[in-house]
Amino acid sequence: MKTRNHLIAGIITVFSLMGTTVQAQETNYDESKVGTYVLPDALTMHNGQEVVKKEQWEAERRPEIIKLFQDNEYGILPEAIINSNYRIVEESDNALGGKAIRRQVEITFSNKGQSRKMLVLIYLPKGVKKCPVFVSPNFQGNATTTTDPYVIESQFSTNGRANQTSRWSYELIINSGYAVATFHYFDVYPDKDNVVSESIYPLFGINSNDDLLDNTGKSIAAWAWGCSRVLDYLLTLDNIDKERAIVMGHSRLGKAALWCGAMDQRFAMVVSNDSGCSGAALSRRNYGETVERINNSFPWWFCNKYQTYNQDVSSLPMDQHELIALIAPRAVYVASALEDQWADPHGEFLSLQEASKVYALYGFDTLKGYSFPSVNEPLWKGNCGYHIRTGIHDVTDFDWESYIGFANEKLKLSE
Ligand code: GCU
Repeated sequence: MKTRNHLIAGIITVFSLMGTTVQAQETNYDESKVGTYVLPDALTMHNGQEVVKKEQWEAERRPEIIKLFQDNEYGILPEAIINSNYRIVEESDNALGGKAIRRQVEITFSNKGQSRKMLVLIYLPKGVKKCPVFVSPNFQGNATTTTDPYVIESQFSTNGRANQTSRWSYELIINSGYAVATFHYFDVYPDKDNVVSESIYPLFGINSNDDLLDNTGKSIAAWAWGCSRVLDYLLTLDNIDKERAIVMGHSRLGKAALWCGAMDQRFAMVVSNDSGCSGAALSRRNYGETVERINNSFPWWFCNKYQTYNQDVSSLPMDQHELIALIAPRAVYVASALEDQWADPHGEFLSLQEASKVYALYGFDTLKGYSFPSVNEPLWKGNCGYHIRTGIHDVTDFDWESYIGFANEKLKLSE
């Protein structure tokens, strides 16, 4: 018996050691071990031709790159005509200490005999005739973003009230003359595996994982879609500045914000807050989270085809700098946090820097030649902004102040 116990203990030890080794190999945090890689050139067409004019970028190269991301990473939503019905469920012109108008709108999406509801919380600064607006989904439900007791809890929220207020600098946003609209991302796609039937996909005739083609989108495509539907509504309001809508997202929702902003050109500015792997960070760098890790941990985020690149990211026909390039010439801001090495801050900066060369087609300065900025010192060039701040994976006042400052400068406030 003793021998057997020893044998079992030995086997367990070997397995634990193997586990540690595998883990250590999987997550590299050593810049010298990033490896060499060659990025696909955003300005070289599939046929080898170099793009030198913005007209060719817009008419030919941009659509090529969009298709690469649709087919290989975020996937597409099938063609469908979805009806959106808007119902104001609550409104007050005395919110946030009397400085804001609060409006809560239920959007009902319907098609194919199915319907889904999204609850949108909107704050508008009082006395501003045309407000620029941030559209930003939240992680835990609308009522978790504020201490405002009149905010209605989102249908799938299990997180009570006011536990994520530090991420939502509503006072600052309103005092700066901006409106903000948020919704719980679960309203469009609950963030878990095997819940296609509970998401918006049945509106498109997709009812389960079995209906997914290689390039059918999953949750990130759905969250991006949700941001665009909120913008549809905002654009019906007289006091929203139609030229100054901004989509902003944190982390997995930063990935969704980038994808949304890349596709939906009604957004004049896009903000990626700590979006990391498969967001702003280059996939070809072996640093922090990898494509393989993200696909294994979150198989419901990206289209099925993305998983085929797990073992060989160099075979991806695109990389994340080209996602950012799709936003050109509109304003884009990429932000990282020093203690969020999992998201590869350096890889996020390099990606933005590489994307900025597409902005040069429009006459903007680029980030070419600039080295990685110091902590807490935002670097804004042309229409591209970047910062790395102290602290953890989070959204802070510093982040919001930077986004607002950048928007004030780049979107040229009219009021
Ligand atoms: C995990 C995941 C990241 C993601 C993050 C988040 O850490 O690996 O890719 O960005 O969650 O959404 O908070």
